[in-house]
Amino acid sequence: MIELKTNASLDAMREAGRVVARALAAVRKSAAVGISLRELDEVAHEVLREAGAGSPFLGYRPHFAATAYPATLCVSVNDAIVHGIPTDYRLRDGDLVSADFGATLKGWAGDAAVSFTVGTARPEDLRLIETAERALAAGIAAATVGNRIGDIAHAVGTVCRGAGYGIMDGFGGHGVGRQMHEDPSVPNEGPAGRGLPLRHGLVLAIEPMLIAGGGDGFRTDPDGWTLRTEDGSRAAHVEHTVAITDAGPRILTAP
Ligand code: MF3
Ligand code: CO
Repeated sequence: MIELKTNASLDAMREAGRVVARALAAVRKSAAVGISLRELDEVAHEVLREAGAGSPFLGYRPHFAATAYPATLCVSVNDAIVHGIPTDYRLRDGDLVSADFGATLKGWAGDAAVSFTVGTARPEDLRLIETAERALAAGIAAATVGNRIGDIAHAVGTVCRGAGYGIMDGFGGHGVGRQMHEDPSVPNEGPAGRGLPLRHGLVLAIEPMLIAGGGDGFRTDPDGWTLRTEDGSRAAHVEHTVAITDAGPRILTAP
């Protein structure tokens, strides 16, 4: 079922989104050579506690997972694409980090992700991240009343493929509301002009997942959660929760 939110609900979702933005900013600031992924989870979790917010990630068990998610943050390093579980791994010089975080505040969810490098960046990682950000921006620009879901998918996919990157198979964005994952799903590529018409009050997470090597395949770690590129190349993932409004797209997880 697709739910359109009232303006008051969009304002409430913006507050949840602000908590997500604060947590991701704190993670980015703390992410330096030597810090462990578990410590980054603790940094993000502390932002939730201060805000009196909950975690839609902690204990989450979607259809594709055999176990409940054990942390508040997903942190996916180098060839990990998404859903990386925070471990005792310590960040090294040149690592490419994707951090994905959600918050629930007053019953409303927000979901966003950023990708960045630690220490001395590889130029090819910066190009991958910059392309992911450009794909997200293109998707957001297409999130307007009168367009359709397919216009978002087409905008995202065109940027990714145009730069020669792979697009993670079978994963994409989704509706957001009282639940982190709601209908509809938002593919990261596809034909323009198809699918659900976008209306005021529809809230979507748009989340390109790019694979440097150009393939779309992934495999799952023995932990049952961490998803890595099949070809071993690096990946980037960026995400915002965005409201479609008569005044244009409103980025609910903007800083
Ligand atoms: N932002 C992620 C997504 O939309 C949410 C991961 S939930 C977790 O797929 F529980 F797996 F962390
Ligand atoms: Co999401």
